[in-house]
Amino acid sequence: MADKSSGQIDTVMREERLFPPSAEFVAKADIDSMAAYETLWNEAEADPEAFWGKLAAELHWFKPFETVLEWDEPFAKWFVGGQTNVSYNCLDAHLGTERENKTAILWEGEPGDERSFTYKELHAEVCKFANVLKTLGIGRGDVVSIYMPMVPELAIAMLACTRIGAVHSVIFAGFSAAAIADRNGDASAKLQLTSDAAWRRGKQLPLKATIDEALAKSPSVEKCVVLRRVGNDVTMQEGRDFWWHELMAEASADCPAEPLDSETPLFILYTSGSTGKPKGIMHTTAGYNLFAKKTFEWVFDHRDSDIFWCTADCGWITGHSYIVYGPLSAGATVVMYEGAPNHPDEGRFWQIVEKYKVTIFYTAPTAIRAFIKWGDQFPERSDLSSLRLLGTVGEGINPAAWMWYHRTIGGERCPIVDTWWQTETGGIMMSPLPAAVPTKPGSCTKPIPGVVPAIVDDDGNPVAANRGGMLCIAKPWPGMLRGIWGDEERYREQYWSTVPGMFLTGDNARCDDDSYYWIMGRIDDVINVSGHRLSTIEVESALVSHPHVAECAAVGRPHELKGEAISVFVTVKDVEPSDELRDELKAHVRKEIGALAVPDDIRFTAALPKTRSGKIMRRLLRDIASGNTEVGDTSTLEDYSVLAKLRGEEE
Ligand code: WT7
Repeated sequence: MADKSSGQIDTVMREERLFPPSAEFVAKADIDSMAAYETLWNEAEADPEAFWGKLAAELHWFKPFETVLEWDEPFAKWFVGGQTNVSYNCLDAHLGTERENKTAILWEGEPGDERSFTYKELHAEVCKFANVLKTLGIGRGDVVSIYMPMVPELAIAMLACTRIGAVHSVIFAGFSAAAIADRNGDASAKLQLTSDAAWRRGKQLPLKATIDEALAKSPSVEKCVVLRRVGNDVTMQEGRDFWWHELMAEASADCPAEPLDSETPLFILYTSGSTGKPKGIMHTTAGYNLFAKKTFEWVFDHRDSDIFWCTADCGWITGHSYIVYGPLSAGATVVMYEGAPNHPDEGRFWQIVEKYKVTIFYTAPTAIRAFIKWGDQFPERSDLSSLRLLGTVGEGINPAAWMWYHRTIGGERCPIVDTWWQTETGGIMMSPLPAAVPTKPGSCTKPIPGVVPAIVDDDGNPVAANRGGMLCIAKPWPGMLRGIWGDEERYREQYWSTVPGMFLTGDNARCDDDSYYWIMGRIDDVINVSGHRLSTIEVESALVSHPHVAECAAVGRPHELKGEAISVFVTVKDVEPSDELRDELKAHVRKEIGALAVPDDIRFTAALPKTRSGKIMRRLLRDIASGNTEVGDTSTLEDYSVLAKLRGEEE
């Protein structure tokens, strides 16, 4: 049995199938053989600064950089002395070229409405909104908090911030008012962007009402701009709240991109770590931009004729890097979809693929598992022959789901890129380059050029092939996080203190005899629910803030659709456990964090199992939660500490 707490994991799975790309796919690609990939990877490894320095010529430089990398571990500065602008690289760079009138964004709303923007049109909208930001007093270094549905204005707002050197903090529209206020406070956000409501499966999510509650506890936020998306009634607070369309009607489309130093903060994105407090991962301008662009081009083998659809939300890093910044700096056409995959029915995604003739489709394993469950009749109803490449991200994909994706969606002709990366890495770190690296179902295969992974044991020594260990990155890369917002100590401690000289990813991995990498889950208390990262301690902190919770422990357990489900064990005070209390606790977590953190099961227990030193025995709880340990009828109040005594274990 895998032991999550140790770096020494050995795998039980051996996947031998190898899938090379078709000759037709290879014929059109730039990096078209294993030898070509290896040459590129070796070139980058031998002299990373020369490698990235050369590629950086693909960005626009208002002022050329002097030094490619200043590395003062754990602080990296890339392209020092240079000045560029991400919004310029995504928009202005295409004006006056044949891409000027190319479609940048093909958007589809959940109710079926459509809008599209050419690069030129998108540029004009971004310039106008950048001017709106300026009239609201936003300038360099100011933090803009964005809580919006997946509408074009979300991308426009992100690009407008970068145009004037403001820093965005996008908060996924499923988070609660308390979670927003927390993040706004941590970032000292000055301006809030939101919409009246969002569409979700035909229902309205009242975003503005949630924001009203959040802003009551966000003293740094001075103003709020509200997009009218749904048309529901909202309260507008005089002097604080402004309508998006009214401000845009007055704004000029003339707003030159500001030359920004390479290391100007670009965005903050909150993610979970192994403590209860979310961390604001900070990315900066030039290095992130180059890494997002190059990884997009390499991994997705981008051609100008492609229609690229990444189904993520801009509230996560995948949306930042592969809906907005990577594809737009590469001059791609992206599809952006607002709603749920099962509205009005489970065939929605495939209708979108057919309608827009999507050629590259990038989604998460949790979605693939849902598609499988819904049944083949849905994809079979649509013409998917435009697809030429498929991708996955967010968690490992089990070989059975991989095979289904390959056959039913890819028609056995599309390579699958299983992309491993993190909020912290800014862009894809390991993935097959599709025309070069034959795939193995369940493996993210090999590192991207310029990425040097290492798998080490608890003493920091490299492990042998096929042995599990801690996955680290041995050299700085341009897309790496530059810190945790306002918490240098936590940045050092979390990522750079466990293995000397290396970035700690927090994942376990092994490398097979062909030097293919296999990700084997987290080493910390982070769980992965539907491809979203949550810390068990965050869920616990939310629960213990309820007056009737004395103590609790949250663990992940395997779940057929979500990857992992959240199981919590609770001891209560002042009341008897009941179904009503269980519902109340779920509602409480929803209020404290958001729907995505609501526990799947809550078990009341007389006591939590603990070691003699008082540590909660999480491994035992994980076993109980996943049904590996017989505990009898869990609907009654169990005393799991008795079980611990029976097992006689220490963790
Ligand atoms: C964690 C990062 C990267 C954008 C989405 C999630 C897991 C991610 C894979 C993959 C196995 C994966 C890891 C990683 N993960 N991609 N292809 N195979 N595991 O970003 O929220 O920062 O989570 O997701 O555990 O550390 P994130």
